[in-house]
Amino acid sequence: MELELEMPMEGGGEQGRWEEERLKTASLIFGAKKEREKGLKAEREKYQLILEEDEMINFVSSDKSPCDNEQYSAALSQAEVQKQSIQEVRRSLPVFPYREDLLLAIQQHQILVIEGETGSGKTTQIPQFLMESGYNDGGMKIGCTQPRRVAAMSVAARVAQEVGVKLGNEVGYSIRFEDCTSERTVLKYMTDGMLLREFLTEPDLASYSVVIIDEAHERTLHTDILFGLIKDIARFRPDLKVLVASATLDTERFSCFFDDAPVFRIPGRRFPVDIFYTKAPEADYLEACVVSVLQIHVTQPPGDCLVFLTGQEEIETCCELLQERCRRLGSKISELLVLPIYANLPSDMQAKIFSPTPPGSRKVVVATNIAETSLTIDGIIYVIDPGFCKQKSYNARTGMESLIVTPCSRASANQRAGRAGRVAAGKCFRLYTAWAFKHEMEESTVPEIQRTNLGNVVLLLKSLGINDLIHFDFMDPPPHETLVLALEQLYALGALNHLGELTKVTYCSEEVLTIAAMLSVNNSIFYRPKDKVVHADNARQNFVVPGGDHMVLLNVYTQWLESGYSTQWCYENFIQFRSMKRARDVREQLEGLMDRIEVEVCSSGGDIVPIRKAVTAGYFYHTARLSKGGYKTVKHQQTVYVHPNSSLFEEQPRWLIYHELVFTTKEFMRQVIEIDSSWLLEVAPHYYKNKELEDSSSKKMPRKQGKAKEELG
Ligand code: CDP
Ligand code: MG
Repeated sequence: MELELEMPMEGGGEQGRWEEERLKTASLIFGAKKEREKGLKAEREKYQLILEEDEMINFVSSDKSPCDNEQYSAALSQAEVQKQSIQEVRRSLPVFPYREDLLLAIQQHQILVIEGETGSGKTTQIPQFLMESGYNDGGMKIGCTQPRRVAAMSVAARVAQEVGVKLGNEVGYSIRFEDCTSERTVLKYMTDGMLLREFLTEPDLASYSVVIIDEAHERTLHTDILFGLIKDIARFRPDLKVLVASATLDTERFSCFFDDAPVFRIPGRRFPVDIFYTKAPEADYLEACVVSVLQIHVTQPPGDCLVFLTGQEEIETCCELLQERCRRLGSKISELLVLPIYANLPSDMQAKIFSPTPPGSRKVVVATNIAETSLTIDGIIYVIDPGFCKQKSYNARTGMESLIVTPCSRASANQRAGRAGRVAAGKCFRLYTAWAFKHEMEESTVPEIQRTNLGNVVLLLKSLGINDLIHFDFMDPPPHETLVLALEQLYALGALNHLGELTKVTYCSEEVLTIAAMLSVNNSIFYRPKDKVVHADNARQNFVVPGGDHMVLLNVYTQWLESGYSTQWCYENFIQFRSMKRARDVREQLEGLMDRIEVEVCSSGGDIVPIRKAVTAGYFYHTARLSKGGYKTVKHQQTVYVHPNSSLFEEQPRWLIYHELVFTTKEFMRQVIEIDSSWLLEVAPHYYKNKELEDSSSKKMPRKQGKAKEELG
């Protein structure tokens, strides 16, 4: 089926062509081995002259060729292309020559899979082609989903500019808590989660003529559910066009899932990228990133650099370390612009990564894997890849979900490397060994649906009237036991009765709402700038109240509310205003939902026991008991520790419930609350046996007992 649409392509397959081109360039420019060695020696000398204080990292090339100045000059003039008119840029994108073929294929087939290299114009151009050929006639909409908020916003802004309209008019976006669309909007970019929500109010998506499921290869939970739902509605809506767009990964699977839908391949344009590995594993990859950036900066020709890290904290630390080193080196080195990018970064800061680098300086973008395929930053020549990402992982046996830093897949590593070859030949420095790449990394990333707690999915599908979850058409069905466990948990929690209705009465819903909202903004409440650590920690200490971290979060929110949701108050107390604002949005939304299902919002009036009991009722399977040197989870005897940031870090109460586990240097519990073990029997008698909760460890409580004795004596 696919052959009739496949576009001509030289060489044997994408990978083959990449290799081939790379070798060709290599032998063309860097033929002489001696020349190259001379070059490397000069690099080393230059480096040591400037950065004598640092150990240099030894990279080994996977083959022959570093790229040179000549190539970069070509790159720079490519970057100059930026000065072209916006229409010229559009015409220069790889998708452009295929406009007519693509439109014809869309006309002929209801469902089409579109595959193309990142940056080829899938997201920004294809919806415009559709608009230009009238798919929005009669007020119909074209929807395009993105797994990431940042991508939905930035792409919509870009397209509005290309179309020449104000963002939010004909072209808009919709993400949770932010609807930037209007009556006039015909092209709507949105997160995959938002389109799922639209199914609640419009189960057949009647207002859409085309739905584009973009970045399908990411296989997020929401995208995977959309696949099943959209495949279903496409059957009774023959007028609906469905496009599944993906980077060059796994497109056969999509085609197969959608009843052998044809694949339209947009041939990529990619320059050779040389891959370097470290000789030995790096003990501290963050430090190794910093050294590598400086190494590139002083030894390599101009060209911007992209570093992949796993999350906000790491990114901030890396940026600070880089800035600090640059300050110390002063005028010994040319200017280095250090720019972070992650989902929670304020949008004006996000926009900065797209602005052109001033001549004579170099830009370093330190990113999460958001820059892997969702965002294209022009001018990147060097990529530094430590080989890690943060991943949700779920163990159905223990019922535990944790966010852990894990080695990324080879497919991810190759996408990352590809970012260096968009405008010219580039280099990718992998901070791991060639052996690790081959033997320690998985081939591809496991879809999110297979490593997540399905509680929310079950609730969502139930609310869409889909009751038979076991037979839902998943592209990769979640493990049977995970699904059964989710149903059991929801039933045990009283969230599902046999009819699937929500039933929940507490006497402290007011406080629990706030806590749930605060927990949802995920550890970004407290601001701790490196140069004001002491002040920040003092400010944080001032919020501590008995009970645990959940109570601290409640306290922060309450005080903020009393300040009239003041920005100044946040600033003075080292609280992130953006996060608080988000918590407020989440809270309002939850309150609205409670209103709809007629659950009363009431307060416990200062009594903290019902609040802690409510948390226990919701998270009873996250219980840990103090044991020698740390904690042990009750059901599975896994050793875990209180996170140093916790208000209970010093106190170490005997029984805890944790919100989540994160693995960094150890398995840490983040956001913990102190409980009484007897509550567990009260709220989850079906789960706990009396015997499991006996305090056999009462002898081993030296700290508290000692203190009590002193007070007595
Ligand atoms: O979706 P795909 O990765 O195929 O490409 P795209 O997102 O449509 O991007 C095509 C081109 O648009 C990129 O190469 C960028 O030059 C430009 N672009 C931009 O300048 N600013 C954005 N926010 C998004 C895209
Ligand atoms: Mg895209």
